Amino acid sequence: MKRTKIATIFTQPEIGKELIVKGWVRGFRNDRFIQLNDGSTIKTLQGVIEPENFDETILKKITTGAAVGLKGILVESQGSGQAVELQVTELEIIGEANPDDIQKTVMQPKKHSLDYLREQAHLRFRTNTFGAVFRIRHAVAYAIHKFFNDQGFYYLHTPIITGSDAEGAGEMFRVTTLDPMNPPLNDDGTINFKEDFFGKSVNLTVSGQLEAELAALALGQVYTFGPTFRAENSNTSRHLAEFWMIEPEVAFNDLTDNMNLTEGFLKYICQYVLDNCADDLQFLHERDATEQTQKPQNERNELGLIERLKFVVNNDFKRLTYTEAIEVLLNSNHYKKKKFKYDVAWGIDLQSEHERYLVEKEFKCPVILTNYPAEIKAFYMRQNDDGKTVAAMDVLFPGIGEIVGGSQREERLEILKEKCAAFNIDEHELWWYMDTRKFGSVPHAGFGLGFERMIMFVTGMSNIRDVIPFPRTPQNAEF
Ligand code: 4AD
Ligand code: MG
Repeated sequence: MKRTKIATIFTQPEIGKELIVKGWVRGFRNDRFIQLNDGSTIKTLQGVIEPENFDETILKKITTGAAVGLKGILVESQGSGQAVELQVTELEIIGEANPDDIQKTVMQPKKHSLDYLREQAHLRFRTNTFGAVFRIRHAVAYAIHKFFNDQGFYYLHTPIITGSDAEGAGEMFRVTTLDPMNPPLNDDGTINFKEDFFGKSVNLTVSGQLEAELAALALGQVYTFGPTFRAENSNTSRHLAEFWMIEPEVAFNDLTDNMNLTEGFLKYICQYVLDNCADDLQFLHERDATEQTQKPQNERNELGLIERLKFVVNNDFKRLTYTEAIEVLLNSNHYKKKKFKYDVAWGIDLQSEHERYLVEKEFKCPVILTNYPAEIKAFYMRQNDDGKTVAAMDVLFPGIGEIVGGSQREERLEILKEKCAAFNIDEHELWWYMDTRKFGSVPHAGFGLGFERMIMFVTGMSNIRDVIPFPRTPQNAEF
């Protein structure tokens, strides 16, 4: 007999049917009631056994964390906690959870801190919180593919190993097969990367955008969805050294089209989670509500998690230029009372405290900031007629700050060359990219969504490390 998933039992309960379920014990009460979870849903199925029908040595092995198989008849539950339960006739211990280890470590049915769980790779997945987060993470990934597929975008796989620094921030991880103790040297003592695996120095990608632009200028609309790597030494709750990014790129789109695409996309994801992840979302909603009460009054969210998702779906994002945003900040009481740590002036790279002020205090909704000073944005962004700003856009979300960064691209070869020179980028090394501006160049635009930042928003988790299965951060890559 094939095993039935617990999720299926709850969505289509067939009373009186004989079933097999397999999963991990969450609790065992009064030598009678087994709470079983198999990962298909946040819900547990109650298995009811008659202790006299089973060997004591078997009963001893039904410990929290043990893997068991139960065969039995599905009946309407006698108790109040659940609609149905399994009247167990056969019980198989599939994998014991050693009681000695349990004592020493962690498999107790108590609440563990998120910090602690990050160090317990196997246990983390078994908790309700992480089960819910990773099921939602999956649903969002699927929703993203569906959104783009339904609109005729092509999923493009851009390389993970690359010779170019798309963002020009120089925060890259080098990939090499050279012997670190004895690398080949040039006459001037520098390392000779011509002898390296690829005959040049290469790195892990920080973005698939430049490659996606090539494809967009032929296939029309494409998107990437892959891992990206940044060696920025920022130990914050919003930064990972390895994170996933979604980067759509669309030929013939300008900045307004780009903003419309972003806004529709982010709303679609929120709606998808509301429609398809009800049980997990409800659990995280309650978890978030408890967390909020533990925060100082002025840091609490006025809206609950589910209301926050609905708010995004139902309200227009506030759109304003960088220059207008600076005005808003300069005129704020917050600024006048010197409450910002970093100074505000036209030309600054907005700090997260500035972004959060705009989103959380001033506008109280998602914000799209556009037309940033050219100096603080990447070389590929399209120069505006004022000569000072570029057609950039950042989407700022409550509780997160920047969730999307994008722009209309500089499609004019001469101006792009000037930008390369100004940014100290060797246009000859980027010949393959410059070529697109020589052969049928067109206006085009795109953006990058930080996947984990989006998952933070839809799950209400406040640390980015808790929305990725195996976080990579400075000094931390244990498993
Ligand atoms: O703003 P960024 O650097 O933009 C780009 O990489 C462009 N090439 C995108 C494009 O136009 N195609 O990064 C995009 C997003 C950020 O808004 C943020 O959400 C996320 O990626 N991000 C990070 N997420 C986690 N950890 C980090 N270290 C991140 N750095 C950026
Ligand atoms: Mg950015």
